[in-house]
Amino acid sequence: MKIVITGASRGIGKELLNHYQKKNEEVYGLSSKDCDLVHWDQTSCFFEQSNFNDIDLTIHCAASNVTRFFHKISFDTFKNMIDTNILGTFNLLKCVIPRLKRHGCVILFSSASAFSPRMGQAAYACCKSALHGLVKVLVQEMLAEEKYIFLIAPGMVETGMPMKMMSETALEKARNSIPMKRFCKIDEIISTIDFLQQTPYMTGQTIHVNGSYYVQ
Ligand SMILES: NC(=O)c1ccc[n+]([C@@H]2O[C@H](COP(=O)([O-])OP(=O)(O)OC[C@H]3O[C@@H](n4cnc5c(N)ncnc54)[C@H](OP(=O)(O)O)[C@@H]3O)[C@@H](O)[C@H]2O)c1
Repeated sequence: MKIVITGASRGIGKELLNHYQKKNEEVYGLSSKDCDLVHWDQTSCFFEQSNFNDIDLTIHCAASNVTRFFHKISFDTFKNMIDTNILGTFNLLKCVIPRLKRHGCVILFSSASAFSPRMGQAAYACCKSALHGLVKVLVQEMLAEEKYIFLIAPGMVETGMPMKMMSETALEKARNSIPMKRFCKIDEIISTIDFLQQTPYMTGQTIHVNGSYYVQ
């Protein structure tokens, strides 16, 4: 299987890269050093020069998250979030969808914060919510080529950005706010990806993996 993972320098993307490497898959892990997804010229040039044709699976983990009250967030910070999370996704998808195999699939990451956001998450919730509108259209256009797209909306994952951003006290509080009283394990993300890949009839759907923090 040929797999492209963005955001593979750390967090969920890095764990997924390790997982697929151990399985001896042909996996390419990208970080912003390889290709800054915010910039169209850089992204398109990178994909043109790479050998990324006939991709089976693209997992888009690259993202940024700044938690700040709305009255404190600056225009530049808000714009940076939109550039990375929305324009970055646009740039990646423009390059990757034409290079997907027939029956290939794309996994995007949303978040429980798009459905049940807390104070300070205006920019992040806004960016993640936008992905849902995008996918509702893309799923139809991609089906014309028998290609699939899914969204995974995790709550807090054991690895990744929130773990580094939050104090131990804040983490404890967050853990206790989850009915399951624990964060999502990386294996639960991996098994969700496996399930989605094996279930193309679910294309376009969002899978919530959040210990019942948010129930649809
Ligand atoms: N971790 C969680 O608890 C959690 C919960 C819900 C949803 N999610 C979502 O899951 C995904 C992965 O999260 P994570 O926690 O693993 O993230 P993370 O640890 O913060 O890693 C972010 C990754 O994105 C890359 N990146 C950032 N800006 C980029 C750019 N302009 N171009 C290319 N790459 C860029 C970073 O690369 P560099 O190192 O090169 O900067 C890094 O590899 C994200 O979409 C996140 O919103 C995560």
